[in-house]
Amino acid sequence: MSRKVTIIGAGSVGSTITYTMAVNGLASEIVMIDVNTERALGEAMDIRQGTPFCSPIQIYAGTYEDAKDSDVVVITSGMPRKAGQSRIDLAQTNVDVIREIAPEIVKHAPDAIYILVSNPVDVLTYTFCKVSGLPENRIIGSGTILDTARLRSRLAEYLSISQKSIHAYVMGEHGDSSFVPWSTARVGSVEILDDKGGFNFTGRIKAKLNPEEIEQYIRTSGGKIIERKGATFYAIAISVCHIVDCLFGSSNRVMTVSSMLHGEYGIDDVCLSIPFIFGPQGICGNVLPAMTEQELEKLQHSADVLKGVIKQVNI
Ligand code: LAC
Repeated sequence: MSRKVTIIGAGSVGSTITYTMAVNGLASEIVMIDVNTERALGEAMDIRQGTPFCSPIQIYAGTYEDAKDSDVVVITSGMPRKAGQSRIDLAQTNVDVIREIAPEIVKHAPDAIYILVSNPVDVLTYTFCKVSGLPENRIIGSGTILDTARLRSRLAEYLSISQKSIHAYVMGEHGDSSFVPWSTARVGSVEILDDKGGFNFTGRIKAKLNPEEIEQYIRTSGGKIIERKGATFYAIAISVCHIVDCLFGSSNRVMTVSSMLHGEYGIDDVCLSIPFIFGPQGICGNVLPAMTEQELEKLQHSADVLKGVIKQVNI
């Protein structure tokens, strides 16, 4: 079965996604497109030369025409975050990039499922929904899939339990207003926190951990990595590949990704992350856990923050 993916933006994120897909045999063909054609050629060549040791795959740098018949398009273009910069600071610059790219790519790949990765990802997912003319179920923002992975791996470390048995999510904006609805977080089928806010768990806990500290760790992880090495790309690339794997799979999964809200939790006309169900057809539903009043307020606050940015930018 052909599984053609186009990656727009051959910077660190786009290239690491391509590399990860090749190594994991997720695609049969990958086209890399970048305004810097030399960079796209170089990255494609570098990854392609390792592919004799991978499942059969074609990787090449190309133009929008080469995106024809893509099943999935991943958009990573835009200015990356610099140290000290919030994702929101990038808004207008990257909204303009998306507005420029959208008509070009949609003309050549009208049937693809689109994954938005550049930041501020929720604002750019919203922009793409508004300007692309595509059905919203085929537009997915990577949203808080990475924050949720950070949360689950952090909890797994502390509880000494595989993150596969930890059911906890980060919701809202992929950014400073994200939050963990702790009342919905479970190990197996048991709530992680008891009603006094302590860990409801009798196993080998490595250290007493404060839920607020965990949330702070998640919110500041991206910024800390950028301070230390200038960019984040490995964890986001693995997360995006997980989305692609799901799109090419045969069953639907539940993940926190960013998509347009239509009245879920009373919120409308903004893209943010809640647990959506998606699979080969794109987004096909959601599973909305009951939340406490305080948690609902946090989600509403996150929606308000994003709506405030959307109002300020020219889409
Ligand atoms: C991060 C970037 C992807 O959080 O926003 O690592």
